[in-house]
Amino acid sequence: MEEKIGIEEEKKQTMPRLGEPAPAFEAVTTQGVIRLEDFKGSWLILFSHPADFTPVCTTEFMGFAEIHGELQKRGVELLGLSIDSVYSHIAWMRNIEEKMGVKIPFPVIADLNKEVANLYGMVMPGESKTETSRCVFVMDPEGILRAMIYYPLTTGRNMQEILRLIDALQTTDKHQVATPANWKPGEPVIVPPPNTQEMAEQRLKEGYECTDWYLCRKNL
Ligand code: BEZ
Repeated sequence: MEEKIGIEEEKKQTMPRLGEPAPAFEAVTTQGVIRLEDFKGSWLILFSHPADFTPVCTTEFMGFAEIHGELQKRGVELLGLSIDSVYSHIAWMRNIEEKMGVKIPFPVIADLNKEVANLYGMVMPGESKTETSRCVFVMDPEGILRAMIYYPLTTGRNMQEILRLIDALQTTDKHQVATPANWKPGEPVIVPPPNTQEMAEQRLKEGYECTDWYLCRKNL
């Protein structure tokens, strides 16, 4: 019977796709009812955590609170989610402030019926059927899903990597370039690869730093 319930639950889940409109939702949060469309015009990070009052999640919440100011400077809003009640969220956030001196400035969805979790494929039944994994979804100001990160229950996420991802997305959008492995703001970017022989010839004359015709970097 338990196995049957598990299979039915799995069928309800869909996986969002990069480059497509992010699934719309309306949800109860610690700051009132929020809809995805409320974030039109700004970047949004929607992230899930497994459960309130758990140690790794607590360190992550402090981490998200710490980068909140940097995200705001970049025009990015934060929205958390777990399969817990709004009362549990409120109690946990009050506890984090009281015991750790960190105020949580962003809203958190109380997704007790897993509606949003199922829309975004946040539950990995192989890990847990009752908790969301550590997911991060980045939406651009047009509501297009631009990046997804999935981490297991036991590994806390790297806040600097999340900031780096935002910097990379915003830089590539602004300058029509790509970013290499381990790129950080201020470092050279990648010129997108040429699609024709003529473009391959031409780019060698553009003054880029080219290792070969397909691997050229430039400074912004
Ligand atoms: C934690 O946040 O510490 C945690 C939550 C679920 C599973 C394992 C760890």
